Amino acid sequence: MKDYIVADKWKIIENHFDPHLQMNSESLFSIGNGRMGQRANFEETYSGPSLRGSYIAGVYYPDKTRVGWWKNGYPEYFAKVLNSVNWIGIELKINGEIVDLYTCKVIDFKRELDMKSGLLKRSVTIKLKKDRVVEIRCERFYSMAQKDLCLMQYRVQPVNFNAKVNISWYLDTNVLNSDANYQEDFWKNRKQGIKKKKAWVMATTRKTGFTVCAAMRQELHTDNASEMVVSERMREGRIERAASTTVTQGGFISLKKYVSIASTFYHREEELVGVTTASAKTAMKDGFKKIRKAQARTWGDIWKRCDVEILGDVKAQQGIRFNIFQMIQTYTGDDPRLNIGPKGFTGEKYGGSTYWDTEAYCLPFYMSTTDPSVGRNLLIYRYNHLEKAIENASKLGFSGGAALYPMVTMNGEECHNEWEITFEEIHRNGAIAYAIHDYIRYTGDKEYLVDYGLEVLIAIARFWAQRVHVSPRKRKYVMHGVTGPNEYENNVNNNWYTNYIAAWCLQYAIAAARWVEERDPQKYTSLRSKINLDEESEFSHWNEIVEEMYYPVDESRGIFLQNDGFEDKEDLTVKDLDHAARPLNQNWSWDRILRSPFIKQADVLQGLYFFEEDFGIETIRRNFEYYEPKTVHESSLSPCVHSILAALIGNGEKAYEMYLRTARLDLDDYNNDTEDGCHITSMAGTWLSIVKGFAGMRVRDGVLHFKPFIPPAWEAYAFRISFRGQILRLVVGQEEVKVENLNDGPFSVVVFDECQNIEGNADATVRVSQQVA
Ligand code: BGC
Repeated sequence: MKDYIVADKWKIIENHFDPHLQMNSESLFSIGNGRMGQRANFEETYSGPSLRGSYIAGVYYPDKTRVGWWKNGYPEYFAKVLNSVNWIGIELKINGEIVDLYTCKVIDFKRELDMKSGLLKRSVTIKLKKDRVVEIRCERFYSMAQKDLCLMQYRVQPVNFNAKVNISWYLDTNVLNSDANYQEDFWKNRKQGIKKKKAWVMATTRKTGFTVCAAMRQELHTDNASEMVVSERMREGRIERAASTTVTQGGFISLKKYVSIASTFYHREEELVGVTTASAKTAMKDGFKKIRKAQARTWGDIWKRCDVEILGDVKAQQGIRFNIFQMIQTYTGDDPRLNIGPKGFTGEKYGGSTYWDTEAYCLPFYMSTTDPSVGRNLLIYRYNHLEKAIENASKLGFSGGAALYPMVTMNGEECHNEWEITFEEIHRNGAIAYAIHDYIRYTGDKEYLVDYGLEVLIAIARFWAQRVHVSPRKRKYVMHGVTGPNEYENNVNNNWYTNYIAAWCLQYAIAAARWVEERDPQKYTSLRSKINLDEESEFSHWNEIVEEMYYPVDESRGIFLQNDGFEDKEDLTVKDLDHAARPLNQNWSWDRILRSPFIKQADVLQGLYFFEEDFGIETIRRNFEYYEPKTVHESSLSPCVHSILAALIGNGEKAYEMYLRTARLDLDDYNNDTEDGCHITSMAGTWLSIVKGFAGMRVRDGVLHFKPFIPPAWEAYAFRISFRGQILRLVVGQEEVKVENLNDGPFSVVVFDECQNIEGNADATVRVSQQVA
């Protein structure tokens, strides 16, 4: 754990420089705008440990697979979002001395991520040779309003001497990925140019052929400097401008850099130079101040929809806003080709690819806090990958249009290459079907089934129907050789969660087909013939599986068993573990982990979270009380599910404990791995813990329900929800719950099982104490 981030409601602040924390802070202070983003690297030279990273969504490289023993069915490559053009680069020399915070003396340092306005700021005072003191202030951002733009401002002030300043600023595509299987250079420099005020650089990814072009303009200001000599340089993959001058004591030189970055993801290659140079030029005309103002306005509008306020606990407030901020700047949802990598733009681990995290964790956040098209785009992403998912399943021996969605993907093809996950962690297919249900339940957009959803559901159902077999001994359908969400046990038989979600998918696919058939018989008929659906035999087979699926249970305890044989493991709980053994994945051999009864993340409980309505509270409680003590939460996706279920069964203390683990996971570096990047997808879990956990939000028959409780440490919390075109705000205090209807028309919600019909622009208040009693 680390504890150096200063508590603040709207800002992430570091007010002391420690090179050991630099990699960690580079992750935490990352900025982006959904299209591109970047770690908080320093602009100027830095020779200490650092992971330099600027990423562009959708621009990837197929890094050739590297495994020990090849298994048939492994993918050929892992698609990785690439480290791309370094647009912030500056070289600063003062009186011949290179400014490098790793080697010079840092007297004062403050780094600040202003989440309200989407700005990264830094101010630093350094002492150079002969006690020369220099102040540097910089600021940068990725424009949320104009997605190709990134701007920075860099100001140097000699405090106690007249400084000979050489400053150069550049764009450079000579960048490498730190995560590369064969240390290949993923980029091929194409061309660069400096012509009058225009300066640009262009590179193309090897193999995938994405071309990226970046153009810059700049403004230089000084107050009392002597004459300035400006020069320019160019070499392959790099264009650079430089200025040298003398800045007198107390004076300054400041640089404003306007950069536009575009790629063939959105433009034709021959347009790129024109598009980026024109955009950089317009940005400079508009000016830094104006664009920064627009940035604050855009973020202001975003916060109006998605903010969660917590009164009485600044650290908790900072935690939830940090998570929301990172989620929004990772994915803005305007392009169905993009998705949410577990590290977003904050690091290279997981390759920037898509996991089941999106459907299982992120979707509800975006549905409730952004435009309805955003959630839909997340579903369309998978619809567009359906053909690849069918191809993927057929590579593994499935047929007849069965689809297995990949564990990890960029373009629909599987990238993961560990057999126990690639081939066995198939529950992900269920999450993709579940997301369709979840989306329709929340938005009411059942029409989605007609053109997109049903086709996906049937292909997924076909997979499950082939993946099960009848056990001659049990005379039931069973599923062997799987890995559940708990990756600390592999190759198990009858993982309860997987069996359950498989049967659910089969049932849901049939129900969806019946609905589409009735709603739009013509489209249904044409889909049937497109996918050769033999309703009679396929549906009756699916129904039989649903009826005859085998579920491992312990009747005497009244719990579902994670998988066959789970109870034959040692009966230990996390309390029996030596503190020094945690996290297990960093301290124990893999073999020991696999044999142990310790659970990485919610597994049976993941199912109870998804399908809560199928089970009584007592069943959920018994399972929770059995599994939670065995869970080490070594996936960041785990605590939120536990927090939500704990709240559901009335264990407020546990719900809060689990919430704390998710809310400041990165800010306090709980898992000792934030330097690799932030846990973006699990950040949605923090929001879920508050909205679905503490506030108990559910949608039942098209109506929002709340059953709020408030942790004793908080005075109040409040959040906004967009629901079917309406916005409402819920304020939960220790004494009462207020629901504000922010729409002109009336709105009905259920609070503590009682329906509240609220007039437009009015509110309703319900006392909490009465409910608790
Ligand atoms: C978890 C998976 C998750 C992945 C990416 C793993 O540690 O076990 O469930 O999909 O991380 O977040």
